[in-house]
Amino acid sequence: MLLSAMFLTTNQFFLIMQRLKSIIIRFLISILRLFPPEASSLISLKSINFLYSLNENILKSNINKRKKKGITFRGLNFSHPLGLAAGFDKEGKYFHALGSIGFSFVEVGTFTPKPQKGNDKPRIKRILEHNSLINRLGFNNPGIDAGLTNIKYLKKNYAGVLGISIGKNKFTSLDEAHRDYVFCLRKSYELADYIAINISSPNTIDLRQLSSKDYIDNLLENLFEELEKLVKTHKKIVPIFLKLSPDENSAELKRIINVSIERGVAGFIISNSMAGNYQNIQGGISGELLRERSIEALKIANSIITKKHLLISSGGISRKSDLEERLDNGASLAQIYTGFVYKGPSILEELLN
Ligand SMILES: Cc1cc2nc3c(=O)[nH]c(=O)nc-3n(C[C@H](O)[C@H](O)[C@H](O)COP(=O)(O)O)c2cc1C
Repeated sequence: MLLSAMFLTTNQFFLIMQRLKSIIIRFLISILRLFPPEASSLISLKSINFLYSLNENILKSNINKRKKKGITFRGLNFSHPLGLAAGFDKEGKYFHALGSIGFSFVEVGTFTPKPQKGNDKPRIKRILEHNSLINRLGFNNPGIDAGLTNIKYLKKNYAGVLGISIGKNKFTSLDEAHRDYVFCLRKSYELADYIAINISSPNTIDLRQLSSKDYIDNLLENLFEELEKLVKTHKKIVPIFLKLSPDENSAELKRIINVSIERGVAGFIISNSMAGNYQNIQGGISGELLRERSIEALKIANSIITKKHLLISSGGISRKSDLEERLDNGASLAQIYTGFVYKGPSILEELLN
């Protein structure tokens, strides 16, 4: 009797704490909206890191583990289908704390060989009426070496799957671009659980040309030549995923996927943000405005690939029905970014429970 009363009390206490936590977080998110988007993103990251340093379970979502089926792909074990998309932790400094919220995987980067500042600020704008963002960041990152130093130090605190996203520097020409990717692949191979090749950001001039007929073969040939050497040296096979643009037409998307599979790409992240314009800002649109475009691209990919290859859906996922729709259309995993910005950590429970 006493035991059940104690159990009830603990349970009630736990529920009250959970509710209190979500009220505080909702309040903090509304305060963060008063700041420019890039500043509020930095404050969030610093706060998440600080809370994690107080107690690594403090941010943990209440995900119903019994209901969640894990996903295994080429030796990688994902405890559930939801991960954090690239670009949130551009420095490799926060993934362990972000992972503690409950993401089964986190993709860090995109990293380029040399550090770069990206475009001038302001470069992110909220599109509040559509729960969306437009950004024209342009691969601001500390460079692959500094990123890997951060990752090496923090990886021991992280239990999830770690993806490392790689790209090219702004001033590397398209003819030389494969060297940037090979360089970053070689550097990140040891620490990465998977490596994402980003040739789809709309904010680096001409980057998307790398998926055209003129460049993709050469890029993939060089990458997989290097991969063969890395497999021998490190005695492990790190899967390579390609992140695709949602702005390709169906025939182009199929061509890119087919040539990639032939070369050895293990999976596809579909998709990056879509190129667009909002209030005179030209950049990448993400969030709910991207939803339809992203799911269309997923359906096209799903019509031509088999279960031997992994599909990760990204773009406009913010409700439970979005996640279910992606999983019903061939995705085994999904990533969020903008939905997390708007809803905060409670989005994990909303999507997964
Ligand atoms: C501010 C911002 C920065 C991003 N930076 C990157 C990046 O560096 N590399 C990358 O592959 N994708 C990047 N993305 C794209 C996201 O990873 C994601 O694919 C896209 O936003 C679609 O998902 P969402 O609608 O849930 O935001 C960025 C997105 C945003 C909003």
